[in-house]
Amino acid sequence: MLLISGGHLIDPSQGLNKVGDLLVTEDKISWIGDKGTAPVQQGFSILDASRMVVCPGFIDLHSHLREPGFEDKETIATGTQAAARGGFATICCMANTEPPIDTRAVVDYVKTKARVAGLVRVLPIGCITKGRKGEELAEMAELAEAGVVAFSDDGDPVINSSLMRHALEYSRVFSLPIIDHCEDRTLSQDGVINEGWVSTRLGLKGIPAASEEAMVARDLALAQLTGAKLHIAHATTEGSVELIRHAKEKGVSVTAEVTPHHLTLTEERVIGNQLIPKTYHLSATAYDANAKVNPPLRTKKDIAALIKGLKEGIIDAIATDHAPHTLADKMCEFDLAAFGISGLETAFGCLMSLVHNGELDLVTLISKLTFEPARIVRNKYEELGSLKIGSPADITLFDPDEEWIVDSNNFASKGKNTPFNGCQFKGKVMATIASGKIVYQDNLIKVKGN
Ligand code: DOR
Repeated sequence: MLLISGGHLIDPSQGLNKVGDLLVTEDKISWIGDKGTAPVQQGFSILDASRMVVCPGFIDLHSHLREPGFEDKETIATGTQAAARGGFATICCMANTEPPIDTRAVVDYVKTKARVAGLVRVLPIGCITKGRKGEELAEMAELAEAGVVAFSDDGDPVINSSLMRHALEYSRVFSLPIIDHCEDRTLSQDGVINEGWVSTRLGLKGIPAASEEAMVARDLALAQLTGAKLHIAHATTEGSVELIRHAKEKGVSVTAEVTPHHLTLTEERVIGNQLIPKTYHLSATAYDANAKVNPPLRTKKDIAALIKGLKEGIIDAIATDHAPHTLADKMCEFDLAAFGISGLETAFGCLMSLVHNGELDLVTLISKLTFEPARIVRNKYEELGSLKIGSPADITLFDPDEEWIVDSNNFASKGKNTPFNGCQFKGKVMATIASGKIVYQDNLIKVKGN
């Protein structure tokens, strides 16, 4: 039993935005109201939340936990610890493991490992196609029965349009979304960064915006044809935002997410630190593979469109695309380096820069990390992303003004691959509560017995 006292309560699911107290009894939110009026009984612990914002636990629709198969990059234990530190009480894990999440056995394995780790809620996403090979549909009914919250071959697009049509049609039976990684591989080919002046200048093969947009357009047409729920993973271009806007206006059942890095970094970030001053040797991060990600970092114009899209409800959620990799995967020739950014532990700090710069308001940001992603997995988990009485006690506490410097050596994640290393952020997660249990607490947080 826990009293969270005197925090700034923000819960977009019920239009709540005021200072107050909140009570947690066992694993549920049992009371919420004005400061100093909570019906506290003997035995409650007290967490003083003054100066802090108290909101529903963040939900990440897109994390790569790597287990089974790539435990050198991440395990479910380390990934969920990273999630807790990042303020996430729920994460949906992607299916590109080895074996992929395409059978009940792998779903059960992931759920068991998550239960043993005992930190945050892990909701598996099942494959669209067997082995993620894009050739035949996975056993979607078996996966749905085993408890997946969506279907995705993320990391790869479903190239065959007819197969994608069947996947969308079939997904309606379970009322679960299909999440697509939108990339026309005949256009992206072996590109490694955005196609533009930086790719030309550095002599790296580019990935044009059209590679994403062509696939978004196809998927939207198929979603309209089938009436199924489509979710666009990691949208990055102005053109994608416009296509999704148009589809929403027509009533297509589509939702979309954007990552923190695509909202804050441009293609220039891959240039890294070219020269070590004084010696004029090329620095180890001359082409910074930590900024190599798929889809690639784009341009300022795209960022402006993505932020506008978030504000206008065209982009529904912010998702990390947490993609941990080993040092060896990244510290190699740029062309050979793996795509991906380890994102769970920097997401919130990085996103708060948008709030402090006046580009996004705090309530919208919280909504995109809580209430909105909850709606996308609502069919399975109705009460997530809310502080309403009776909801699971998933709560994130953060100090919007606490400053800190990113040091990837301190990450709980095995993936130290971040382009934000050394960045100073303002806004820090101070505690994460998942199902009533404090799964992360900053050194500054003290919980007193009553
Ligand atoms: O950068 C990426 N990394 N994009 C993806 O779609 C997959 C991910 C991974 O699994 O590493």
